[in-house]
Amino acid sequence: MLSRSFRPTLYASRAWYASRRVHFYSTTIQDKRQQALDGGGRDKRDAQHAKGKLTARERLDLLLDQGSFREYDAFVEHQCTDFGMSDNKIAGDGVVTGHGTIHGRRVFVYSQDFTVFGGSLSRTNADKILKVMDQAMVVGAPVIGLQDSGGARIQEGVDSLSGYADIFQKNVLASGVVPQLSLIMGPCAGGAVYSPALTDFTFMVRDTSHMFVTGPDVVKAVTNEHVTQEALGGAKTHTSKSGVAQNAYSNDMEALQRMRDLFDYLPLSNRDPAPVREYEDPVDRQDEALDTLVPSNPNIAYDMREVINRIADRHSFFEISPDFAPNILVGFSRMAGQTVGMVANQPLISSGALDMDASVKAARFIRFCDAFNIPLVSLVDVPGFLPGTTQEHGGIIRHGAKLLYAYCEATVPKLTVITRKAYGGAYIVMSSKHLRGDYNVAWPSAEIAVMGAEGAVKVIFRNRPDQDKLQAEYKEKFTTPLAAARKGYLDDIIEPRTTRSRLIEQLNLLQRKSLQNPWKKHGTMPL
Ligand code: HXC
Repeated sequence: MLSRSFRPTLYASRAWYASRRVHFYSTTIQDKRQQALDGGGRDKRDAQHAKGKLTARERLDLLLDQGSFREYDAFVEHQCTDFGMSDNKIAGDGVVTGHGTIHGRRVFVYSQDFTVFGGSLSRTNADKILKVMDQAMVVGAPVIGLQDSGGARIQEGVDSLSGYADIFQKNVLASGVVPQLSLIMGPCAGGAVYSPALTDFTFMVRDTSHMFVTGPDVVKAVTNEHVTQEALGGAKTHTSKSGVAQNAYSNDMEALQRMRDLFDYLPLSNRDPAPVREYEDPVDRQDEALDTLVPSNPNIAYDMREVINRIADRHSFFEISPDFAPNILVGFSRMAGQTVGMVANQPLISSGALDMDASVKAARFIRFCDAFNIPLVSLVDVPGFLPGTTQEHGGIIRHGAKLLYAYCEATVPKLTVITRKAYGGAYIVMSSKHLRGDYNVAWPSAEIAVMGAEGAVKVIFRNRPDQDKLQAEYKEKFTTPLAAARKGYLDDIIEPRTTRSRLIEQLNLLQRKSLQNPWKKHGTMPL
């Protein structure tokens, strides 16, 4: 305790500090904040705009509700002293982090600032990202990362690599706890691609974003192959060939808007329900067009996307990976305002047969829905797994098993409508009753059999001359869902027009579904 006689001195001293503090605030803090806002400065921002890209902060403005962004760590600077870096510091250090809201719901964000050291990842930069990921898990809110970076900060060597490693580790710990979403809006190279790859959904911007483990120069040096950045790792490549990214958009604004749209379907965490949105589409709306949508000739295709659009709330289908393995459709819809995960064979492409890519695409989507308690609606018209050496040698058995595993493991409500073909192993895999399906129904047009008539007759009556007659007999027996319904493998055969109301009834009934798998550390999914 200070003696009374010292107090005036102390007060004087306090006053002095107070005046310094005001001075301090009015200059250095303010300057630093301004520096963080300016990033790499006007020239670099102009260069960013000239490439058709927005800056890190402009992107956050569009992603988040107006005025909702609360920034963390705007004053953080890198600690690097090599290669002239000690005098080269910019507050914020190339990534803008914090939280905000999307349609009023909390989200944590980070946005790499290419105008500062090319958005490269330093140790402190990584720590900023890790801080928001940690907080997101503590409070239960998704993380969205906007990627635009030259990769590991070269001047920092292993420190930068350690930053990436910590982010990868955190991505894995957060997986299945909070949704993690990535938007690639510039370069994303080297091991840096693995953070987006560990997240749940990755979107890209056409022409301005690229992802590759090694760029064209290294490819040329190692394999003597000439390839452009775009062909190697552009949006088209990753959304249609590799499946690394799910969706691609024309520019930053559209991509950010669509990310907001996707966010609106998702729960904040594995402890929260998905948001229920207002809907005007009547629950008991009957759609007569569904009664005649499936052609009577089983060799004529129809668009399963139309079925989805007719049974779900109007305009609610948000398709994931529309250009990769288009023989299966996956995406989020709403039914009576509730989010559901749609998985549907697409007869328009390869007759809807399941191949390697389709199996992996659907398996991943199903596991996301199961992790975040989103009910699954499966629409089935599948002639089987795609035959041939390409598929067999590529591992269709292993990849198909992933889809089987995902459906078997899922404990969320599982509703299945067989619209036409459900043949062989594919019948079982596509969320059949046998895989703990909760509500399995068929339209009268359903055909459930080991295989199609031609193949079946060839196998069992190989030497008989009356193949056509035998095929007709086979069809008569199997081109009806009655055999399965008689055995209770189908809960009902429904009029197609009533599909929407039937599914919504069951979704409501299953809201309180509670099903646990046996305790285990984790399964050994056939990866
Ligand atoms: C430090 C970097 C940087 C990096 C870019 N810059 N990448 N600084 N570390 N990794 C700086 C540049 O020096 C430049 O600074 C500014 O950012 C803009 O870069 P430019 O080259 O002028 O831009 P642009 O022509 O658009 O080319 C962008 C680019 C190119 C394609 C990303 O910069 C590039 O190839 N960078 C290196 C990419 C890379 O190989 N990274 C390492 C990947 S391996 P000034 O001051 O001039 O403006 C990796 C390992 C991760 O990341 C491992 C995880 C396990």
